[in-house]
Amino acid sequence: MTNKKPIAADRLPALLRAMPKAELHMHVEGSLEPDMIFSMGQCNRVPLAFPSVEALRQAYVFDNLQSFLDIYHAGTTVLKTEQDFFAMTDAYLARARADNVLHAEIFFDTQTHTGHGTSAETVVKGLYRACEEAPARHGMTASLILCFLRHLSEEAAFECLEQVLPLREKIVGIGLASSEVGHPPEKFAKVFARARQLGFRLVAHAGEEAPASYIWSALDVLKVERIDHGVQAIRDAALMQRLVHDRIPLTVCPLSNLKLCVVTHLGQHSLKRMLEAGIVATVNSDDPAYFGGYINENFVQTFAALGMTAQHAYQLARNSFDASFIDGALRNKYVQHLDGVFETFE
Ligand code: ADE
Ligand code: ZN
Repeated sequence: MTNKKPIAADRLPALLRAMPKAELHMHVEGSLEPDMIFSMGQCNRVPLAFPSVEALRQAYVFDNLQSFLDIYHAGTTVLKTEQDFFAMTDAYLARARADNVLHAEIFFDTQTHTGHGTSAETVVKGLYRACEEAPARHGMTASLILCFLRHLSEEAAFECLEQVLPLREKIVGIGLASSEVGHPPEKFAKVFARARQLGFRLVAHAGEEAPASYIWSALDVLKVERIDHGVQAIRDAALMQRLVHDRIPLTVCPLSNLKLCVVTHLGQHSLKRMLEAGIVATVNSDDPAYFGGYINENFVQTFAALGMTAQHAYQLARNSFDASFIDGALRNKYVQHLDGVFETFE
């Protein structure tokens, strides 16, 4: 960090909001706000089980990942047209840019939508158009990562991969999401090997609710480059050493962990310990419309709960660019921008 003077503790929230950052773990379907769910539901004549926007918001109380996934899935039923996918993504990008996100790597899952009768082409074209227009519309960059749904079979994941192959150039990476416990990474060994041959970058959710063994197999069997969540690694010293040694980034989502009861309060979160152990940790929002905040809210609340400093803030923002899949020239430009903000912040 290159700041001239120390940053006063009461200025830390402003610094967290102002610092340029990348967001590497957010599910675009999890950014659908209740009012958008209602307006799209009306336009597309999709009935909803909730009488009002407020009633829907009130239902956002979860005991674990599955209780969230059930309601999240209900929200996705309103998405029908290419324009719906564009509008959802564009709204997220506008919101992210307001939090000084300069680059976003956006998760989506075609299997949810093909399961509702919408083609993979409609989904990917709408999402991609928003990413393509992000520099002109919002002054930022964005790319797409397709997540297979792990509660479905490997055969279904292969089918999904086939469907998106004509759209290969629109997707930077492949990930793995949905119900974790009972669906370990090795269930998807063959389809990840195929995705790797095809040149996709690879990530996977692992160690969110399930044990550290899922992180080992995501690394050793699926050969992923980043781990999404990964918070259970703190229980396994050998794994922590491996993550530090190989500089495997973790895309951590503190408010998600709180809302899904992975931790009982933010003061218990392992983010600070991980960072101080040398892990390339990043902060992300996961499903911001459901978990009570976009990326800056994750930063501000977690820093307050854990007593983190401007040094931690710089490291997390720097990690987010280092762990992203952008090319070297763009990364350097974003890091220079980050350094500039820290040098001049009053
Ligand atoms: N899909 C959307 N959010 C998710 C999460 N937190 N874990 C696994 N799958 C998800
Ligand atoms: Zn996630």
